[in-house]
Amino acid sequence: MKLTCLGIESTAHTFGIGIAQARFTDSRAAVIAAKQNAKLNGEILANVIKQFTTKSGGIIPAEAADHHVDVCDVAIAEALSAAKIAMRDIDIVSFSQGPGIGHCLRVGAAAARTLSLVHKKPLVGVNHCISHLEIGKLLTAATDPVLLYVSGANTQVIAFEAGKYRIFGETLDMGVGNMLDQFARQIGIGFPGGPQIMKLAAAGKNYIELPYVVKGMDVSFGGILTNIRRKFDSRNYGKEDLCYSLQETVFAMLVEVAERALAHTGKSELLLGGGVACNTRLQEMCRIMCRERGARLYVPEKQFLVDNGAQISWLGILEYLKGTRTAVENSAILPYWRTDEV
Ligand code: ATP
Ligand code: FE2
Repeated sequence: MKLTCLGIESTAHTFGIGIAQARFTDSRAAVIAAKQNAKLNGEILANVIKQFTTKSGGIIPAEAADHHVDVCDVAIAEALSAAKIAMRDIDIVSFSQGPGIGHCLRVGAAAARTLSLVHKKPLVGVNHCISHLEIGKLLTAATDPVLLYVSGANTQVIAFEAGKYRIFGETLDMGVGNMLDQFARQIGIGFPGGPQIMKLAAAGKNYIELPYVVKGMDVSFGGILTNIRRKFDSRNYGKEDLCYSLQETVFAMLVEVAERALAHTGKSELLLGGGVACNTRLQEMCRIMCRERGARLYVPEKQFLVDNGAQISWLGILEYLKGTRTAVENSAILPYWRTDEV
């Protein structure tokens, strides 16, 4: 049996259309597997990503939403063509219902409702954060991982435990990516800042002390940003050394909370997700930590680390198997939807 889902991602600056297909011989067994959160076989047939970017950095929600409206039709057509299927072959339409930026979420939700009503396909609203975890399980050998989810807006350590997705640690203020982007903007290296900071950091030699802010299982970046901004303004430090020190400090914090979650849950797999997980130094630090405690690290390829439609289409299938159906009247976006409310 095959189950095919078209998924729409539009939580922030990315508009994505993904098409996923699950294959199973016994549908009852597939439903039980989905309910137990076990691994299911499947494949991504298409993953079209359209990103809204600006030279100066930062996104104006209304402008990003306009971009999403502009690319919507083309992205859907490209995805169907890449998957070599037509709308009639799609069984489910899923979309990112939250969390995210309201203006942006609304575009994806409207597109999903339209496709669902016009083509008479069931609609499934899914949680964006959880989709990062489930796409990682599909595409890597991970079976029951702790996810370190590090993007622009989000920084969370998530795992499935005792029948529920739980947050084991998170940022108390901004996401780590936004913090890197804000510092990058200040020192004039453009947007997105993460990749540029990574390049400068590679040339840094001297570690400059910065605040290290781990509170229990949570992290916070606001104070670090203020501190490094002052240091930059004082002109006493080079950009390279500042970028190097910033990475070493905040990544150490992330690795610490991820390791605590592994210890707390007794799990032995760490999965990375989100745009900041593209950073090779963060990957290296996670790999060292995992090696030291006998755990395994899984890093999906870049197109599945950043926000993408594939993850929404795959989670659409899993939720559908669990019985989730989102009636149009219940399909309003949920900008503040928390991982642990799913
Ligand atoms: P979400 O809605 O999930 O918060 P997002 O809109 O922030 O997602 P992503 O594509 O997941 O989108 O992540 C973008 C972030 O990743 C940006 O802050 C960017 O600076 C950061 N980033 C990208 N590449 C790197 C890198 N090599 N090192 C560090 N940060 C990076
Ligand atoms: Fe994301």
